[in-house]
Amino acid sequence: MKGKEQMGVFDAIKGRRSIRKFLSKNIDDETVVFLLECANLAPSAGNLQARDFIVVRNSEIKKELARAAYGQEFVAEAPVTVVFCANFSRIAPYGKRGVELYCIQDVSAAVENFLLAAHALGLGTCWVGAFDEERVSEILSLKDDQRPLAIVPIGYPAEKPKGRGRIDIKRIIAWI
Ligand SMILES: Cc1cc2nc3c(=O)[nH]c(=O)nc-3n(C[C@H](O)[C@H](O)[C@H](O)COP(=O)(O)O)c2cc1C
Repeated sequence: MKGKEQMGVFDAIKGRRSIRKFLSKNIDDETVVFLLECANLAPSAGNLQARDFIVVRNSEIKKELARAAYGQEFVAEAPVTVVFCANFSRIAPYGKRGVELYCIQDVSAAVENFLLAAHALGLGTCWVGAFDEERVSEILSLKDDQRPLAIVPIGYPAEKPKGRGRIDIKRIIAWI
């Protein structure tokens, strides 16, 4: 995938939007792996990389995931859907704080890298957090040490949403 990225980091950050409509055009495995390598280059506590990536191409399983996400059908309409999971075994050296916090942060950082890298390649994604965790674990036969934290459909965008806008930055920053 070397040389394929054309977009600078600031353009990727500014231009990314949540995409909920996808073309039927497929994405090859090489691209998916490249994007997951970008995801795993995100920082992680102690570099333990307490995250697992489940890549779903199977239409029936994607439909089940969409149902588990309370009918968010676009999860099934993307050619590929990735389920980002925390891995409790890998974070175990950090005890309670590792399980309750670090692995969630490890996964979140990976998801953001994935979204930005995908956008830089002209692909659309949406971070889906509203889903029944138990059901998703069942559908994917996850192990006891895996917790699904984000479902991310990815495909070529079939919409160009306007920016959602953000709260005035001055309201969010505190200078001390
Ligand atoms: C933790 C988290 C959970 C989210 N869950 C959902 C979801 O279940 N369904 C959905 O359509 N979008 C979901 N989103 C996407 C947000 O709606 C979206 O990021 C926000 O509206 C800003 O729009 P933008 O991503 O286009 O900038 C989620 C985003 C995050 C970070």
